[in-house]
Amino acid sequence: MHHFAYRNGVMHCEDVSLEAVARELGTPAYVYSDATLRRHYQVLADAFADRKTLIAFAVKANSNIGVLATLASVGAGADVVSGGELLRALEAGIPADRIVFSGVAKTEAEMRLGLSKGIFQFNVESLPELRRLSRIAEEMGKRAPIAFRVNPHVEAGGHAHISTGTPENKFGIAWHEAESFYEEASRLPNIEPVGVAVHIGSQIMRVEPMRAAWEKVVSLTRRLRDRGFNITRVDFGGGLGVPYKDGEDPDSPIIYARQVREALGNLDVQLVIEPGRLIAGNAGVLISRVEYVKERDGRTFVILDAGMNDLMRPALYAAHHEVLPVRTPEMGSARRAVDLVGPICESTDRFAKDRPMPPLKEGDLVAFMTAGAYGATLSSQYNSRPLVAEALVRGDACVVIRRRPTFEEMIALERAPDWIASG
Ligand SMILES: Cc1ncc(COP(=O)(O)O)c(C=O)c1O
Repeated sequence: MHHFAYRNGVMHCEDVSLEAVARELGTPAYVYSDATLRRHYQVLADAFADRKTLIAFAVKANSNIGVLATLASVGAGADVVSGGELLRALEAGIPADRIVFSGVAKTEAEMRLGLSKGIFQFNVESLPELRRLSRIAEEMGKRAPIAFRVNPHVEAGGHAHISTGTPENKFGIAWHEAESFYEEASRLPNIEPVGVAVHIGSQIMRVEPMRAAWEKVVSLTRRLRDRGFNITRVDFGGGLGVPYKDGEDPDSPIIYARQVREALGNLDVQLVIEPGRLIAGNAGVLISRVEYVKERDGRTFVILDAGMNDLMRPALYAAHHEVLPVRTPEMGSARRAVDLVGPICESTDRFAKDRPMPPLKEGDLVAFMTAGAYGATLSSQYNSRPLVAEALVRGDACVVIRRRPTFEEMIALERAPDWIASG
């Protein structure tokens, strides 16, 4: 469910026409719906209302301060994977005690930051990381609440590049070593082992593989408790998929919540979940303008002003986005197969091949649907293109939540070495 729909032949985000946004902001630009973001959070919050649950939004999915502040205002926590994401979450008003720090490579500085802010928990992924955290916590006179992220040896995820729960992935600690790691953690005075965490991948359409991983976490938690560890939290990660095209029908948040509940059984713990895509995915679109239509060698290339630097998912893992004309095509106009490509000098800068599209001509606007997660966060300035702009809509109001940088801003951190001038 989202708030993008055609009105009088023009696609709107809530009550704002995407043509108006393009006029105001230029293209390419991401546009997010406040109502969709809040609704998705609320559906999950309602589904888990009967138990103590921290819904920690995975900031990597969409880290814009405007989006994070929206989610903070309805009570979301955050799952962060860098000091930068942690600072963003705090800046957006998410309290430290609702922030989980994930990631395989936390630096000393990031650990210090997390400890000084008093975050909810560190999800630890190796013994060297545990020992480093222990040392830093000791230096700071703090105790670090931790969960080990276990690798449950369960395969899932919409693409091999977003599957994280198998032995060849770098993520998590080995399943069979978990108990001995908790032993070691409990011997460290500045470490407080409080939870068990898991995350097996992203864009997972059926809950079953996740449930298999959760059940492993539940049984490990029970064993740890039997051995006297005070494990009070389980973190079931994120991963539930969203539909990117017609016919895709992922399990609903309601089914997800029911399966979580069944997997937990009567285990009395605080639940943490880390949804990203589920909350932000279809809360955003990317609008782009057709620069050229080029016919060559029997192919039609619709060349857009958005490139893989603005939306990397298709180039990165062959992801599909529906691309719709912002203005509905004339009645009866035939579709024909075109390649939708961007301006970047890379062959992978192609959003779709042989995609049946209604007639498109120079200047027309299109919208990439379901682009609110892993869209703007993966954008870059490759080919020295300015970072894509972002706007947030509420009702008939539209605010720019990231403006396009100027050329001067883009090069402000760079300089030519002095030796060039001195000859
Ligand atoms: C540790 C962790 N938690 C949560 C997420 C969010 O996943 P999703 O956006 O699929 O819900 C990710 C994404 O890769 C992740 O690595």
